[in-house]
Amino acid sequence: MVKICCIGAGYVGGPTMAMIAYKCPDVQVVVVDISASRINAWNSDHLPIFEPGLDDVVKSCRNKNLFFSTDVEAHIADSEIIFVSVNTPTKTRGLGAGKAADLTYWESAARMIADVAKTDKIVVEKSTVPVKTAEAIEKILTHNSKGVNFQILSNPEFLAEGTAMDDLAKPDRVLIGGRETPQGQKAVAALKAVYAKWIPENQIITMNLWSAELSKLAANAFLAQRISSINAMSALCEATGADVTEVAYAVGKDTRIGSRFLNASVGFGGSCFQKDILNLVYICECNGLPEVANYWRQVVQINDYQKARFVNRVVASMFNTVSGKKIAVLGFAFKKDTGDTRETPAIDVCLGLLGDKAQLSIYDPQVTEDQIGRDLATNKFDWDHPAHLVPTDPTAKKSVTKASNAYEAAKGAHGVCIMTEWDEFKTLDYQKIYDGMEKPAFFYDGRNVINVEALRKIGFIVYSVGKPL
Ligand code: NAD
Ligand code: UGA
Repeated sequence: MVKICCIGAGYVGGPTMAMIAYKCPDVQVVVVDISASRINAWNSDHLPIFEPGLDDVVKSCRNKNLFFSTDVEAHIADSEIIFVSVNTPTKTRGLGAGKAADLTYWESAARMIADVAKTDKIVVEKSTVPVKTAEAIEKILTHNSKGVNFQILSNPEFLAEGTAMDDLAKPDRVLIGGRETPQGQKAVAALKAVYAKWIPENQIITMNLWSAELSKLAANAFLAQRISSINAMSALCEATGADVTEVAYAVGKDTRIGSRFLNASVGFGGSCFQKDILNLVYICECNGLPEVANYWRQVVQINDYQKARFVNRVVASMFNTVSGKKIAVLGFAFKKDTGDTRETPAIDVCLGLLGDKAQLSIYDPQVTEDQIGRDLATNKFDWDHPAHLVPTDPTAKKSVTKASNAYEAAKGAHGVCIMTEWDEFKTLDYQKIYDGMEKPAFFYDGRNVINVEALRKIGFIVYSVGKPL
């Protein structure tokens, strides 16, 4: 039985390994992590992440050919293939702070592999890393080894949260990059054989290591760029009376452009788009390409502009002050069908409103009050560096409450802001919400989920991203 170990039991390591175990009953998969609480949760009835379809897959394989363990060393030692799926956040200090990827966790995983390996290993980069990381990892592994052969592969992950299980079951493509040596190609073939158990061979693309590493950063940059492009258009739509949904529809009908990923919003969030683009910007700068760096930096700048624009709209429309006013925030996760709040645009919007002394009542079906409190008290980029949690404003907590449903959040509020496109927000009883609010009742839809005309008919003053005012 082939044995696979994955270092990092997070949003990628957990679901990815669960799918491999599910599709390959003849492979033994162990997911290891230094966080005992995370591993305990993976072994419990309450998995540490919410992802549709994940529970069933985990339950069907757990303790058969899928295991979760904190015994990192033992499982590295007796596995043939080791995936490394640790976090690779943005550096907060020193050279490249605010842009470069922090490879501390990756390096410590590589050193651990070098220390405990006694037999040949295939080490797979699953985390998103800067191009040429494999070269650095190779140095760490080969300088510490005792005659053990290591092959490094790049196998970036393209799953999106909320649809992770479908993405893993039917990916658009699987990418494997390896050295062009016979040993490198043998390692590529071994990993390809695992995926080939459920993915058609023509969708498993093999290429050189650097192309595979860079393709991941490029894919995220292209996706985020589409959102910033349509969001930039949304500002122009609001200024001219055009409707961004109609513009996106017309543009997307061109098959060269395509219709997906053109939803205007309050801004993109999630743990990766911003971090990966900033990392790309840094790599371009380091390679003497400032024009290319500036091109991609704009994608993040437009995203920041979009979030700031949303806050300004709320404050300006409420007679230039939200001081002491209750505002309901519906949705806090960075997108629907996940409880993940990393880099959610709701954080910047809430902090902006709190900066103007608003009283916030937040409702999200998957995000806990503790998580919201932590997010609003953590400095930018620090969320993935637990050692440096520094409250930005210890008084902020007093102005924030968590509501148990949308109606409670909106009761007595002057305004409602939709931050996440949860399906349940499409079918709320908006008459009931309106009746419970202060008047005039303002509504700001940061996700274009509500029917603007229907809400205006009820009496709301409605602002929806990129829609005629
Ligand atoms: P995560 O923070 O959810 O999980 C990372 C895990 O690694 C944590 O549980 C942490 O405790 C563990 N870890 C860190 N150092 C370790 C060590 N030395 N030994 C053992 N465990 C260690 O992160 P994630 O969202 O799963 O992302 C992981 C990587 O995958 C990142 O590079 C990210 O850019 C990339 N990625 C993420 C997504 C996504 O949707 N979240 C999608 C594609 C790619
Ligand atoms: C994204 C990519 O889609 C994945 O392919 C990639 O693997 C992953 O990043 C990663 O590397 O971490 P994810 O961040 O989970 O996945 O979710 P997306 O669906 O891409 O959404 C990202 C953000 O963009 C969300 O805040 C979403 O609401 C926003 N978005 C998305 C828009 O504002 N408009 C759109 O049209 C699409």
